Amino acid sequence: MAETKTDQRADAALYTFDRSVELFERATKVIPCGIYGHHSPAIRTPGATPYYFQRGQGSRIWDVDGNEYVDWICAYGPMLVGYNHPKVEAAAAAQREKGDCLSGPSPLMVELAERLVQMTPFADWFVFAKNGSDMTTWAVQVARAHTGRNKILMAQGAYHGKDPWCTPGHAGLVPGDREDMLSFRYNDLAGIRQLADRHRGKIAAVILTPYHFTNWQDSEMPVEAFWQGLRKLCDDEGIVLILDDVRTCFRLHMGGSGEYFGVKPDLSAYCKAIANGYALSACGGRQELKTAASKVFLTGSYWFSAVPMAAAMATLDEMEACDGIARIYELGTTLCNALTEAAASHGLQLACTGHPSMPMVKFAGDDDMYRTQVWCAEVTRRGAYVHPHHNWFVSTAHTQEDIKRTLDAAEPAFAVVKERFGS
Ligand SMILES: Cc1ncc(COP(=O)(O)O)c(C=O)c1O
Repeated sequence: MAETKTDQRADAALYTFDRSVELFERATKVIPCGIYGHHSPAIRTPGATPYYFQRGQGSRIWDVDGNEYVDWICAYGPMLVGYNHPKVEAAAAAQREKGDCLSGPSPLMVELAERLVQMTPFADWFVFAKNGSDMTTWAVQVARAHTGRNKILMAQGAYHGKDPWCTPGHAGLVPGDREDMLSFRYNDLAGIRQLADRHRGKIAAVILTPYHFTNWQDSEMPVEAFWQGLRKLCDDEGIVLILDDVRTCFRLHMGGSGEYFGVKPDLSAYCKAIANGYALSACGGRQELKTAASKVFLTGSYWFSAVPMAAAMATLDEMEACDGIARIYELGTTLCNALTEAAASHGLQLACTGHPSMPMVKFAGDDDMYRTQVWCAEVTRRGAYVHPHHNWFVSTAHTQEDIKRTLDAAEPAFAVVKERFGS
C-alpha cells in the first residue's frame, strides 16, 4: 500500500499528481482519449487533479500518487454506503464463493425483484442489467412497444446515457437516430403541452430526471405541481412517463425519487448506488406495461450475475438499518451550509443547488465555470476530491470529521479564488 500524504497537509504541502499524469500519457497511446466520458481530464484544469486511483475505504479514496482524499464524488454516484463496506463486501464474497456468472440467474434475482416491488409503490415488476444506459434505452423501447408510437420527449441538456438517441456526443450518429426525439425546457409544462398538441397520437414517452442537472449550470428543482401536471398530461394523452432515476436512485427516497416528488411514473430506470459500486442497473414498471416489457428483447453477457445482486440486497439492508436517506440529507445540508458560509466570509457567493445529498456546487453567476474549476482544483490539492462539472454525492460513510477536513481544504482555496478573481 502506498504511503499516504494526509499528515503532510499540516505543513501546507499541496498534492502533486506525477504518477497520474504519467499514466495518462501512457494511456493516450493505447486508449482513445486516454480516459473517456465525463472522467476525461479534458474537462478539468490539466494536471491539477488526480486521474487514477488505487483504493477506497469508507468515505476516502487514495490516488496513484498516494494522496488521500475525502471523496465527494463517490465514483459518480454508485458509492452509497461507503467504499469497501464490510456487510456489502461480505455478502458479495459469500455469493462469489457460490458463483457469480452461472448458466442462468440465481434465486437472488427473484428475491431482489420482489424486494424492489415491495419498496416501490408504483412498480409491479423489475428487470436488471448493468448500466443506466441499458435501462433508459430499454424503457424507451418498452414505451414504444406499449403505445405503438415513435416520438420521445426529453429535456434540453438532460443526460440519459451514451446511446445514439440521447448521447451528448455528435460523432457516429445518423440522422435517423434522433429523428423521433423532441425536446423541451425542464419545468416548462406549457411547452410540453404544446408538443403534445402538435404531435397528438405520436408521442410514446416523456423521459426525464426527478430534477434537472447539467454540467454547466445550477441544478434545477421541479417547480410546484410540475410533476403532477405532467402526470395528468401523460394520462390524458396516453403517453408513458419514464423517470430516469439512474443518478438519484436511493439518495432521495427508498421508494424511488417519484415518491420524493409525489408522482408515480410508469417506468423508472435505476442504476448508480443500487449495489454500492457493483455493476447493476434496474428498471421497474407498472402492471399495464408488463406485456410490452416481456416483448422487448433484453439480455447481456453478464446481466444475470449474482454477486452484484447480493451486494444490492446488503446495500438496501444497510440503508434501512442506518436510516441512510435522512443521514445523507443531514450531512449534505451541513456540508453545503458550511461551505456557503465559509465562502461568504471571503466575500464570495457559493451556490449549492439540487438535493443536499447530491449538491451541485459552483460560484453564483460563474457562467463559464472558470472560478469553480480553479476552486475545485485547489480544494482537491488539499485533500477533498470534488468536481466543478458534476454534482457531488454524499454517502452514509461520510462524517462530520470529513466535513471539517473539507472546510480546511476549502478555506485556503477560497482565498486563492478571491486573490485571483476578486469577488
Ligand atoms: C441521469 C442519468 N441517466 C442515465 C445515465 C447513464 O448511466 P450509465 O453511465 O450507467 O450508462 C446517467 C449516468 O451518469 C445519468 O446520470
